[in-house]
Amino acid sequence: MTVRLDALRAEYLAGLRTFLEHGDEAALTYAYELGRRALNDGLGLLDMAAIHRAALDALVLGVALDERQRFMEAVTAFFNELLAPFEMSIEGYRAALTASEERFELAVRGATAGLWDWRPQTDEVYFSPHFKRIMGYEDDELPNERQALLNAIHPDDFGRVTEALQTHLERRTTYDVEYRVRTKAGEFRWVQSRGQALWRDAGEAYRMVGWIVDITDRKRDEEALRVSREELRRLSAHIQHIREEEKARIARELHDDLGQQLTALKMAASLLEYQGNEVPSSTPPTDALNGMYALIDQLLDSVRRIAADLHPAMLDDLGLIPAIDALIDEFSARYRMRVVRHIDVHAITFNRECRIEVFRMVQEALTNVARHSGATEVVFEMVRDDPHCIVRIADNGRGAAHNDRPGRHSFGLLGMRERAALLGGEIRISTSPGSGFALTAILPLTAVEARDELSELSESSKPARSATSRRDD
Ligand SMILES: Nc1ncnc2c1ncn2[C@@H]1O[C@H](COP(=O)(O)OP(=O)(O)O)[C@@H](O)[C@H]1O
Ligand SMILES: [Mg+2]
Repeated sequence: MTVRLDALRAEYLAGLRTFLEHGDEAALTYAYELGRRALNDGLGLLDMAAIHRAALDALVLGVALDERQRFMEAVTAFFNELLAPFEMSIEGYRAALTASEERFELAVRGATAGLWDWRPQTDEVYFSPHFKRIMGYEDDELPNERQALLNAIHPDDFGRVTEALQTHLERRTTYDVEYRVRTKAGEFRWVQSRGQALWRDAGEAYRMVGWIVDITDRKRDEEALRVSREELRRLSAHIQHIREEEKARIARELHDDLGQQLTALKMAASLLEYQGNEVPSSTPPTDALNGMYALIDQLLDSVRRIAADLHPAMLDDLGLIPAIDALIDEFSARYRMRVVRHIDVHAITFNRECRIEVFRMVQEALTNVARHSGATEVVFEMVRDDPHCIVRIADNGRGAAHNDRPGRHSFGLLGMRERAALLGGEIRISTSPGSGFALTAILPLTAVEARDELSELSESSKPARSATSRRDD
């Protein structure tokens, strides 16, 4: 810098001398050129004043008294040329600043967002007119003071807002919070507030600018949607519950009532046979009687099967795992499919309430395997993985293109999700065409595990054949 300044000082002095001797335009152009170079080199106006002062010192003594006036006018003209580039650049800067300020002004006035601008060190704050309007105030009704806003934030949201602000200033995390503000009328409105601070090199924030938008309507819609979803879920759970109860009742009646009557019919028929032996003339043909017995047996079988399909009595009598075991046995035999079982029998004692839900999930998953997969092998897992119970049914079939949105008529998976949600859990599916279909139910143990001894007793009667981990071919 000093070298450049020294060179410039010498050049300026020489240029000024030439100008004083010849007074021509070219010398003035030279002064302008020197000024432009100085500006480009990052020199300032004070440097220019020093250069000029040095030139005056060097020249002024040689000027006759009566020449002084003309001399001063000439050097001032020369100096003005040196300064011209600086002046122009300041002008340009001013124009750009004005344009930018106008743009900001327009943006603030036209914005649907309410803008705020805060200096953390002095706590000076600016709220745009629209900011105040969101809070129900005219521009002159709410002071540009941070406390005015802090007083209006809902007490339940206050901690969250200040914490978000603090972490933004300290750790530069995104500042994006939703909170309620009390309006002039006294009601609360939801706003979303976003902002961005500017930091000095030392790390402290010196300014933060942001905006708020009124999201009250969105919040209201979200809440209405949440409530309606909740109601639908409760309704669906209620319908499922009634359906299961109804099925269980019909199953019981079929089994007990119809079953008993059929047994009675069989006894009556055999009585007929016995009496017939005493009166040989009216003996009914044995073939006909045998046919009747067979028919009654078939009927009894059908009744038992239909009853079991409606509601597996085993579920109530023996518990979840024996019922699932029997279900898998039947599935494996009916569809000639190998099922590999990993059942952590002693790891979980299931409560009564969850039995039907878990059983139906497994039943639907197996039905899907039979219906859609074309698989040759299924792996069934039921394990404890604190704090969850994991039930997994995976086949080696054709799989499916993964689609998060189930089809309009696919109620199987939807039902499973509902049942899982009812227990506070979820269903995850992992599949792709050609690589099998794996369905996992992740259920919180708190919802499926028995808490009191009574349910434990009812579940403890597990069949001896369930090993901790077993392969069935
Ligand atoms: N094990 C599986 N293998 C291949 N595709 C399956 C399997 N399970 C389910 N899917 C696919 O997911 C779809 C939805 O299943 P689901 O909701 O039970 O409806 P549905 O069985 O009535 O078609 C099925 O139509 C099928 O395309
Ligand atoms: Mg299905």
